[in-house]
Amino acid sequence: MIVVRNKLDLNFHIAKFKKNNKQIGFVPTMGALHDGHISLIKCSKQKDDIVVCSIFVNPTQFNNNEDLIKYPREEKEDIEKLKKAECNIVFIPSVSEMYPEEDKRVFDFDGIDKVMEGKFRNGHFNGVAQIVSKLFSFVKPDTAYFGRKDFQQVAILKHLNENYLKHLNIEIIACDILREDDGLAMSSRNKLLTPEHRKAAPLIQKVLKKYKTRYEDFTVKELMKLIEGEINKNKFLNVEYIDIVNNNNLKTVSEIVEGETTTCIAVFAGNVRLIDNISF
Ligand code: PAF
Repeated sequence: MIVVRNKLDLNFHIAKFKKNNKQIGFVPTMGALHDGHISLIKCSKQKDDIVVCSIFVNPTQFNNNEDLIKYPREEKEDIEKLKKAECNIVFIPSVSEMYPEEDKRVFDFDGIDKVMEGKFRNGHFNGVAQIVSKLFSFVKPDTAYFGRKDFQQVAILKHLNENYLKHLNIEIIACDILREDDGLAMSSRNKLLTPEHRKAAPLIQKVLKKYKTRYEDFTVKELMKLIEGEINKNKFLNVEYIDIVNNNNLKTVSEIVEGETTTCIAVFAGNVRLIDNISF
């Protein structure tokens, strides 16, 4: 596996692969890799000739400096995991490499950035779009892979790709959520949970699953209240928001339609903010 830390070296290798007509897949990450990330590498390995992964904890998408500081960083272990997964190139740039000057671009997402995560993490998606647009233009992949756990992020990135980056001709592929045996969605943040909070966290998925099968008995408002109440009954968990939304415009629905609706949730387990979702 080739490890590159600057754009020039990355460009050299990408140009070589492109010249040989290799199809390039790309998995952008912030590191602290878990099996969810590795499953994205595997998806790309099945479809593409060359898999590129990036590891970069992007400061512009953190609206809370403490969260940025405590975000897990495990570069050595990550490189070993990527080698084992037969990734071809890992790009690990510094902050000054990615932001030689302040990125002042402001993207318009037609409102889908203002709901759910957007209400609680001001500027988060603009930061995600800044870094992903830079990474896309450096890596120039044919396909890029993202996990469905970040349901709203996938919608935002599809919008970005369609409206701002069409000239790059990149296909975005959303891959299924990987879960621990007890149902907790895999996330780099799970490492920050205390044993009590880790034990409580699978309740989030359990409650979402329970009401997925009973949705016909309740109104959307009742469902949201029931889910929130059941999770909050656990003293280690505290729901920040729950929303039941249309998959395309991310607006709260008045009625659940199978194949078109998803419940999204953010929950604090102590200081650690977890997100999850379930589609009907
Ligand atoms: O999902 C993530 O890990 C990040 O938001 C991403 C897409 C790598 C951008 O920093």
